[in-house]
Amino acid sequence: MSEEIQEFKLEPDQELRFEVESKTAKVYLSLRSGQAEVFGTEIVKGKLYEFIAGAKIAVFTWFGCTLEIRGQTDVIYVAKETPMVVYSNCHAALENMRMEAEKENIKGPTAMIVGPCDVGKSTLARILLNYSVREGRRPILVDLDVGQGSISVPGTIGALLIERPASIDEGFAQEAPLVFNYGHKSLDKNPALMNVLVTQLAASVKEKLEVNKRARASGVVINTCGWVKNEGYKMILNNSKVFEVDVVLVLDQERLYNELVRDMPDFVKVIFLQKSGGVVERSKNVRADSRNQRIREYFYGTPKNSLYPHSFEIKWSDLKVYRIGAPPLPDSCLPLGMKPKDHMTKLVLLTPNAGLLHHLLAVSFSEDEEEIIKTQVAGFVCVTNIDTERQTVTLLSPQPKPLPNNVLVLSDLQFMDSQ
Ligand SMILES: Nc1ncnc2c1ncn2[C@@H]1O[C@H](COP(=O)(O)OP(=O)(O)O)[C@@H](O)[C@H]1O
Ligand SMILES: [Mg+2]
Repeated sequence: MSEEIQEFKLEPDQELRFEVESKTAKVYLSLRSGQAEVFGTEIVKGKLYEFIAGAKIAVFTWFGCTLEIRGQTDVIYVAKETPMVVYSNCHAALENMRMEAEKENIKGPTAMIVGPCDVGKSTLARILLNYSVREGRRPILVDLDVGQGSISVPGTIGALLIERPASIDEGFAQEAPLVFNYGHKSLDKNPALMNVLVTQLAASVKEKLEVNKRARASGVVINTCGWVKNEGYKMILNNSKVFEVDVVLVLDQERLYNELVRDMPDFVKVIFLQKSGGVVERSKNVRADSRNQRIREYFYGTPKNSLYPHSFEIKWSDLKVYRIGAPPLPDSCLPLGMKPKDHMTKLVLLTPNAGLLHHLLAVSFSEDEEEIIKTQVAGFVCVTNIDTERQTVTLLSPQPKPLPNNVLVLSDLQFMDSQ
């Protein structure tokens, strides 16, 4: 560990990797000379970038550079081996497909990134999107990772039009994302619901591509979660069909690659990519921390961009709070035409109860019971108090009262508001 200022001279194609682990530490990065980028976003010379606890960063240079690091890092080293040339070739191939698409005014490539946990899927998505937006493209990011996704809060899937490179310390700007509430942090909790949501999201993305010419030629990059076995594998196959995927980028796992080559239709290109030696495995705790951090940022913003959420009390009777998924009926009791798994996508109206404390609630755009599950959400509130006697709830909300809609859907995700 060190607090002092450190200087690093990098040769072309090298990468400086560092981790900020200690809870109180902050690390500052600046570029003294040359050219460098962080996950595809160019660093501005002389500007100070701040990284907080949990950050695992790689600063890559194509032509060589001198970097300055200030503050306490737990791990810091220069790597000579990186997969960046391969990732950049991947980008070049997608860019060729975009040029073809542009000429014919058709949809550009839809590329889906798959692989087990902690192989750099989210990072590759970011690199590819950054490179393409730097070429003047306007690609769409689809994030299907409900645990460690990059859109809205955990427990959701969504899409985001990428109009500028990700901010080095804060990721992509969250402007008008399309968000669907799934309500769990892992896919196995309710695959039936996930399939409904993925279909809706794909239709919304398709609509967006139809009306936006530039986005249409640019295509889509889909990030996924690390569940690649059994049901998870089936979901990968289903998702690629629903999103009409043209290219599947498989990170790290050859077995998964071979399975996909076998099972994907011929017109889908399946490509194997090595993971970067810099990708670090994250423990269960680290994952939970990063989910918590994302929710905190949703309400309170980031150090650079603070938000000031509102807190207000609402009468229970003024709200309709639903849970998705009814208790299963025995097969013999199923109403005619109902399939055994249909109960997983049924809405159940909830009565006030103390168990809702700290839970996130999705604010639906719809009031029609039939449509609620399939409708994107306006945003999230968090239950910070429940008064069962007075039948009121206190909500933490990014927006002041009133809520845009009184229909709320319960999420499994919780947040302890300690500010
Ligand atoms: N080349 C690299 N050097 C250092 N850290 C990296 C590198 N690539 C990715 N990381 C970090 O490793 C962690 C896991 O990467 P991520 O892309 O989130 O993996 P996945 O999405 O497959 O779970 C992230 O914290 C990311 O910032
Ligand atoms: Mg990821």
